[in-house]
Amino acid sequence: MCGIVGYIGTEQAAPILLEGLTRLEYRGYDSAGMAVFDPQAGLQVVKASGRLQALRDMTDNGAKVVGTSGVGHTRWATHGIPNDINSHPQVSPSGRIAVVHNGIIENYTKLKEFLKEQGMPFTSDTDTEVIAHLLEYYYEGDLLEAVGKLLRRIEGAYALGIVCADAPDQLIAVRKDSPLILGYGNGFQMMASDVTAVIPYTREVCYLNDGEVAVLTRDSMKVYDSLLRPVEKTTAHVDWEISAAEKGGYEHFMFKEIMEQPKAIRDTISPRIRDGKVVLDDLTITKEQLENLDKLYIIACGSSYHVGVAAKYILERLVRIPVEVTLASEFRYSSPLVTDRTMALVISQSGETIDTLAAMREARRLGARLLSIVNVVGSTIARESDDVIYTWAGPEIAVATTKAYSTQLAVMYLIALHFAELLGRVTEEEYARLVAELQSLPAKAEEILKHTKEIQYYASIYFNHDSIFFIGRNIDYAVGLEGSLKLKEISYIHSEAYAAGELKHGTISLIEDGTLVVALASWNELFEKLMSNVKEVKARGADVIGVATEAHKAQLEELVDSALTIPDIDPMFLPSLEVIPLQLLAYYVALMRGCDIDKPRNLAKSVTVE
Ligand code: G6P
Repeated sequence: MCGIVGYIGTEQAAPILLEGLTRLEYRGYDSAGMAVFDPQAGLQVVKASGRLQALRDMTDNGAKVVGTSGVGHTRWATHGIPNDINSHPQVSPSGRIAVVHNGIIENYTKLKEFLKEQGMPFTSDTDTEVIAHLLEYYYEGDLLEAVGKLLRRIEGAYALGIVCADAPDQLIAVRKDSPLILGYGNGFQMMASDVTAVIPYTREVCYLNDGEVAVLTRDSMKVYDSLLRPVEKTTAHVDWEISAAEKGGYEHFMFKEIMEQPKAIRDTISPRIRDGKVVLDDLTITKEQLENLDKLYIIACGSSYHVGVAAKYILERLVRIPVEVTLASEFRYSSPLVTDRTMALVISQSGETIDTLAAMREARRLGARLLSIVNVVGSTIARESDDVIYTWAGPEIAVATTKAYSTQLAVMYLIALHFAELLGRVTEEEYARLVAELQSLPAKAEEILKHTKEIQYYASIYFNHDSIFFIGRNIDYAVGLEGSLKLKEISYIHSEAYAAGELKHGTISLIEDGTLVVALASWNELFEKLMSNVKEVKARGADVIGVATEAHKAQLEELVDSALTIPDIDPMFLPSLEVIPLQLLAYYVALMRGCDIDKPRNLAKSVTVE
């Protein structure tokens, strides 16, 4: 959600800013712009609604914009429609100061009134414009000082990139609750919303903390706290390859990432299983602390929340501790029952989702210990947790998550096995059997991925449906939630997931001739019950795609219109296998409907506003 890139160096800035913005496209946006300091003409601002290509076309891929320092932005509209005027950069009344912003300024209305009283005109509907204006209001020749004063007035979440025509040899970066990293180069410095935008140029990065301000010049980078006292920062080296964030011959990132899942699962679990035992070096919680817990609270959003729904079944079965799963956006407003005997399990691919971050801070305030499962190394959620277990999925670019979801599940299995063993809730034989089953997961996922053609064929039969229901029980229901979300995210087909037992309490009234139902029946114990539900919907005219394990192949084929089978595995690990055909189904349906698969409308990869 909103992408920021800044560059100051000796090369022409605009092509570098455009390249960086292209790498941030996946975050989700609806307009783009940049401000570059041209030594002859002063601050040049170009912006356009729509895709980045519009900005490329206007500037001949950046060639027409002269200058070696500037900031660029992709905007995901919050305040004001996505038009040219509301695009960033937003500029101060004199045109001297330009600002790009990710986040929301909560007190902007009051500030706007105040600035209007000072005679300052406004042209946009954005909250960001007040930042540019306030900076000008405070500016008396020292930009950093003006930023310091600004920080005392604005409330909310913000990552900012600031350029000033009077101080052409510096850029200023500010962050609070929205992501921003710095990239250190030789003779140049950069800032960006995440590392993907800087790694073609440098792998030495630094993560800004909340409230920190950085002054970037061509040869130096100085960081200050919000009171402008100097702060010592350490750098981190990013060691993944650029190719990990490129399509590598695939038509879409989403398909590439679906295909990468066996490897991602293997990378996440293999180093953590040694001599048949789960070893979580990253975890500092002791057996005694674990014994003291009386509740696990899972906090997450979107697909990460769906991992939580599946994890509840897994953890309660194996670890025997009560688990409550809550949407992060609801947590803070629900009087959560958290004590110092609660552990909050926080799940986030990006590690920057603002609702998740806010909820985990509230959980900590109430006394909970925080264990997070995060993909992006060094992200805020990871840094603010007591313990973090990283999913080693590599960079995920498609907005609709696939491999991050799968690796989050994989970490959940590891946690469940580890906790169950520590607490003595599982026999040695059962533990060994489950670890072996877990190790079989990547190969079984590979097996499913050999059948993409079959799923493509089913997609070609059903892609014209305009309403699709997913039904399942227990862990199949949890997977249904994710399958349904994948489908609606990228194909824009209305879809709902239902606990199959609830059909008769509502959804069945929507079933008519030709309604498509995806029946998830992999949980062998409940196969018969699910088949009864299949008969009920078929009797009312539904077309049914069924998913079950090999064990029930023959029965499934008899009952449903289109049957998909997955390899047999202990039910605990089913979600990882069952989700794959559903991801592929969503992918092919979206493809056949001509949708923008990697960048679905209105969605953002990293949701940094509440
Ligand atoms: C957005 C993404 C989803 C993701 C959710 C939570 O909605 O499009 O794919 O599941 O945010 O993000 P997180 O980074 O916290 O897992």
